[in-house]
Amino acid sequence: MAFRHIDVSPISGALGAVIEGVDLSKPLPKPVFDEIRSAWLEYCVIFFRGQKLEPSQFVRFARKWGGIHLHPFLEPHPEHKEIIEIIKTEKDTYTFGDAWHSDQLFQRRPAKATMLYAKEVPEFGGDTLFANMYLAYDGLSSGMKKILDDVRIEASGGTRSAQAATQNKGSMNSKAPPKNLSTSCFHPLFRTHPETGKKSLFIGNQVEGLKNFAREEAQPIIEYLRDFAERPEFTCRFRWEVDSLAFWDNRCVQHYAVPDTDGKRRHMHRITIKGDVPV
Ligand code: SIN
Repeated sequence: MAFRHIDVSPISGALGAVIEGVDLSKPLPKPVFDEIRSAWLEYCVIFFRGQKLEPSQFVRFARKWGGIHLHPFLEPHPEHKEIIEIIKTEKDTYTFGDAWHSDQLFQRRPAKATMLYAKEVPEFGGDTLFANMYLAYDGLSSGMKKILDDVRIEASGGTRSAQAATQNKGSMNSKAPPKNLSTSCFHPLFRTHPETGKKSLFIGNQVEGLKNFAREEAQPIIEYLRDFAERPEFTCRFRWEVDSLAFWDNRCVQHYAVPDTDGKRRHMHRITIKGDVPV
């Protein structure tokens, strides 16, 4: 697609593009916003550099994409309930998000999108990896697609993730999960993106079973699909700088926070956009 209002530079053959020529601290004219949306749908994760964003400006940009999801087991920023702070200090060993996942997959309405904004980053390390789940779906054989076509994943990682975050929290400001946090829900393994109409593989570390499969039947399939989805040719890697912003589509992307910053400080602001029930 040709862009007239923004510059778009892909960073890998699989997904990810850097967008230049916009200042996210200001309200965006509609033609600019529309092109950012098109680039986001095409590249699945987009990146902006050198954005000087006050929390209120970050929230204003996020609200353009939908309602804000409030995290079930992390305390929000003290003045901006829409923002959670992902903090790892020199003393912490826990890295939030250090497994391939799609945000809030364990909820009936998993997150549509996530924005991550870098406040403080180490000189090196602390990159984030992204993987394109359209490519993962397309890459499966026709036999595998046929066998698994109507299969539903059981996502029951909510309680486990909450426990991990609250037990090993380091500097993450966690809170007890609400009593009604969903502990088990089912989604299609092959979901259809509501905006692009394309199919993607919906898998990640929070998938713990397959509906109507015995545990010992489901586990090897889940492990195979997880490994398959992480193939390097489906991924890109983003090197953070202070004031960089990443914006990914959880409906077709998994991500992974590389846990290689022990002894260093990293501080991010994150906003997650509410999603629909996957079909
Ligand atoms: C996350 O899983 O949202 C965290 C990603 C990161 O900190 O790089």
